Amino acid sequence: MDVLDTFGRPLRDLRISVTDRCNFRCVYCMPKEVYGRDHRFLDRKELLTFEEIARVARVFVDGGVRKIRITGGEPLVRRDLERLIEQLTTLGVDLTLTTNGSLLPQKAQALADAGLTRVTVSLDALDDATFRALNDVDFPVDRVLEGIQAAHDAGLLVKVNAVVKRGANEDQIIPMAAFFRERGHTLRFIEYMDVGHTNGWRLDDVVPAAEIVGALDRAFGVEPVEAAYRGEVAKRYRYRDGSGEIGVISSVTQPFCGDCTRARLSAEGRLYTCLFAVRGSDLRAVIRKGATDEELAAAVADQWRVRKDRYSELRSQATTDLERIEMSYIGG
Ligand code: GTP
Ligand code: 5AD
Ligand code: SF4
Ligand code: SF4
Repeated sequence: MDVLDTFGRPLRDLRISVTDRCNFRCVYCMPKEVYGRDHRFLDRKELLTFEEIARVARVFVDGGVRKIRITGGEPLVRRDLERLIEQLTTLGVDLTLTTNGSLLPQKAQALADAGLTRVTVSLDALDDATFRALNDVDFPVDRVLEGIQAAHDAGLLVKVNAVVKRGANEDQIIPMAAFFRERGHTLRFIEYMDVGHTNGWRLDDVVPAAEIVGALDRAFGVEPVEAAYRGEVAKRYRYRDGSGEIGVISSVTQPFCGDCTRARLSAEGRLYTCLFAVRGSDLRAVIRKGATDEELAAAVADQWRVRKDRYSELRSQATTDLERIEMSYIGG
């Protein structure tokens, strides 16, 4: 029997962060002033081990989870990640990974060999100077494009996610659409969200999805596609000439909390029922005190049953001062 939360939503997706570290310092996610030398990242012993993650994942799948996404920080900076992928592919659910793509040239083949079939690469610009300014570690865009190519060559299906920030990369929308349409990779534009506190988010920084779709329609001609399933995050569009699909994720202007079936597990084993949650429950403590699978499942179900989260629908100026976790800690 599915456990439903207070709005009748089942738990279907689990997003697992495997590290809070990243080799980029994207200005909207891990600004250098905050994530510099003095920032304290998690110690290795604080992280869930791959065995612990695989066990938790199995308990979630037994409880109805159908989709698992590995996130970070940057998940590929965690050593031997393919060993975890090997364990998770045995669960038989939709398994994917969100990465900045920088390590895909080295890692793509090992991930595919481990049984991974698709990845999502975060990339916010094709223009090299714009990209270097956004990642703030002077990382060249060509290396990410090589990573995308390596993933494709290894047989992985590639989606590309681009966060659009007013004045920073909105001029990249049309060039990116043209580029990825030609290569057959689905691109999704994401509205810049007020996650965390360190990025100094303002509503003026958001480029509404409707504006993005308008620009795409004028440039290429696009029409909406029916949602594939209830609660689909991206709104999908197809090019009228049949050359594939493109999507927008309108979490600010048209929130999708009503169908939100997602839970997030931090690298240290805290379970959050919303991207904007303040506190997570300590599943690691439950695991490390020797809980059985049934006890672990009960701990998760108890937390899910009382869930009331719908942050994006409630978002207002009044909420911007609330305490909040950071995206780099909990993953996208
Ligand atoms: P696919 O299964 O590959 O289509 O992915 P997805 O539709 O689950 O979306 P993905 O994981 O690629 O998420 C893309 C972006 O959407 C994230 O980086 C977030 O910015 C945003 N997003 C995803 N899930 C949520 C959510 O639960 N709440 C909010 N507010 N935003 C979300
Ligand atoms: N708003 C929207 N998406 C964000 N991401 C990180 N910070 C934000 C934000 N403030 C996205 C990244 C990546 C994923 C890990 O989360 O671009 O696609
Ligand atoms: Fe790293 Fe992704 Fe955050 Fe950029 S958005 S700093 S790549 S975790
Ligand atoms: Fe789900 Fe929270 Fe995002 Fe709403 S804001 S869609 S409840 S994670």
